[in-house]
Amino acid sequence: MKVIVFHSYKGGTGKTTLALNIAISFARQGYKTLAIDADLNAPTFESIFVGLNPKYKFNDLFEFELRKKALNDDDGKEKSPPQPKDLPINSLIEENLDLVFAESKPKFGFGLLSMDKNFHVGALKKLMETKNEFEKLGYDYLIMDTSPSLNLASINAIIIADATLIVLRPNKYGIAGTTFLIKELYSMLGTVKRKDYIVFNQVVSKTPTKLVNQWQKHFKKRLDVETIGIVHCDCGVALNMLFGNLIVEHEENKEFSKVINKIVEKLNHDLL
Ligand SMILES: Nc1ncnc2c1ncn2[C@@H]1O[C@H](COP(=O)(O)OP(=O)(O)OP(=O)(O)O)[C@@H](O)[C@H]1O
Ligand SMILES: [Mg+2]
Repeated sequence: MKVIVFHSYKGGTGKTTLALNIAISFARQGYKTLAIDADLNAPTFESIFVGLNPKYKFNDLFEFELRKKALNDDDGKEKSPPQPKDLPINSLIEENLDLVFAESKPKFGFGLLSMDKNFHVGALKKLMETKNEFEKLGYDYLIMDTSPSLNLASINAIIIADATLIVLRPNKYGIAGTTFLIKELYSMLGTVKRKDYIVFNQVVSKTPTKLVNQWQKHFKKRLDVETIGIVHCDCGVALNMLFGNLIVEHEENKEFSKVINKIVEKLNHDLL
């Protein structure tokens, strides 16, 4: 099993859109795929996959003991913490795509959203165990959608990743901010074993090719990070959002789907 984490410096760059569409593409190719909403600050899966109502959320794996303590609930009703196998539910849109939701009402400063380094050390251990458990369940790919910028929960996801897709919009602060993010990540974690890629998203059509080449060279030369995809601004994607849907119909002739499938092909090639 391979873990692919979607991350960004700024919010709103397209992580969730790309993560879900790439997860669907993996699933359609027959890979057993699990997409995890690990954007704990601003979860989205619940509003996209309406009506699925999973019993347990991603947070439950990590915060069970803490919540018990907070409630002073030694003889609480639920004595044993949920296990990783209790979390995934089928997406109902693809047989091979399962989902894990995040708590829809984030408790800022609590548990995974706290700055408590000791808690996050424990959470990382739990995350590593969880990864092993998901592998035992037969998943080929784990796709994790994170909260933007450097926060301890997202860093833990990146630590367990086989690949990180760093999504940015190509403008001055997007490029500068992402360069800063990658440098910080490398000084903290190094590149050991993990493959990092850049995805330029929402690229306005008619952007000069020369400029696109310059951005790619910038990341390759300065940080040795390869570009895996250039996704144009696509009104079809934005239009889907009108209906609260980040999932784009995969029609082979549509440029968006072609780029998604190419990214999946490259990840398959590089990771498996
Ligand atoms: N290629 C694209 N073309 C047009 N619109 C896009 C494209 N990619 C994403 N969007 C739109 O941009 C908005 C932000 O996308 P999305 O929610 O996926 O970003 P995000 O990085 O997950 O944001 P956040 O950091 O808040 O979680 C959405 O309205 C989405 O429809
Ligand atoms: Mg998102």
